[in-house]
Amino acid sequence: MTISYKATPTLEGATYTSSGIKVSWKSVSGVTKYRVYRKTKNGSWTRLATVSDTSYTDTTAKSGKVYYYTVRCVSDDGKTLISGYNTTGCSTQTSRVIQNGNIYYYDSNGVLYRTVYGDQKMVALTYDDGPSYYTETILDVLEEYNSVATFFVVGERVSTYSSILAREYALNCQIGNHTYDHSNLANLSSTLVKSQISQTNTAIENVIGVSPTVMRPPYGSYNSTVKSAVGMPLILWSIDTLDWKTRDATSTINSVLNNVKDGDIILMHDLYAATATATETIVPSLIKKGYQLVTIEEMSLLRGGMSNGSVYYSFR
Ligand code: NI
Repeated sequence: MTISYKATPTLEGATYTSSGIKVSWKSVSGVTKYRVYRKTKNGSWTRLATVSDTSYTDTTAKSGKVYYYTVRCVSDDGKTLISGYNTTGCSTQTSRVIQNGNIYYYDSNGVLYRTVYGDQKMVALTYDDGPSYYTETILDVLEEYNSVATFFVVGERVSTYSSILAREYALNCQIGNHTYDHSNLANLSSTLVKSQISQTNTAIENVIGVSPTVMRPPYGSYNSTVKSAVGMPLILWSIDTLDWKTRDATSTINSVLNNVKDGDIILMHDLYAATATATETIVPSLIKKGYQLVTIEEMSLLRGGMSNGSVYYSFR
């Protein structure tokens, strides 16, 4: 008996990688094959491939263009079944390319605007517990120096500070999950840990359109239940500035500049005026010392990667 699959796969998006544009979609129950199509110049769809996977990389995509894709289910007897269209697009202009051990970013005019060199020193500034009023100053500094940081965001703060979160993301900073209400996860059941994570992911996704891929447990507190329930890499730190305790810019600046090494993850909090003030010195000073300021994701991409449930203190 031939089964008909009338569902249209939900597209998860298309991303430009060094090997081409990778299109991903959610599997449809009972379906074993999918067909991937790309829109042509005249608006029709051309078939690229039939695959049993739930992703496909279009290696024929050329740089400096925008491409659109759709995916359809295939029935047991090989027929393409169509019920509505989902389309996903990917610009190869505003894109990240990882090549020769470096990361390159291109703007919408195809102009290279930022490069992360794999063989040069790098450090990841991270800010927890925000967004807050003081985050704007930190973003001003990062923007001025064409640099990025990672913000571990508390879910319950997102609706109040959604425009700041949106700006963090627009400036190519990475957004991480720091639980919904800053609970100590080691005291919670697996179900409650999962709820803390998913509520925060949803709040963030509602603002920036994507869900975080890294998590930092409050107080650096975790156990085996937390590691498996979080479902993301756990990002700790190698330099603790104690900025929350001292609330002193000079102390925060010194703890960074006197201890920094290649591959460090630096812990700060964007809740305090003193931390924002410290950032005004830390960012240009690190650049002067030859450090590239990168996100956790960038550092991991160039330094061995990450896996869900693993804990990272630095990337050396
Ligand atoms: Ni915290």
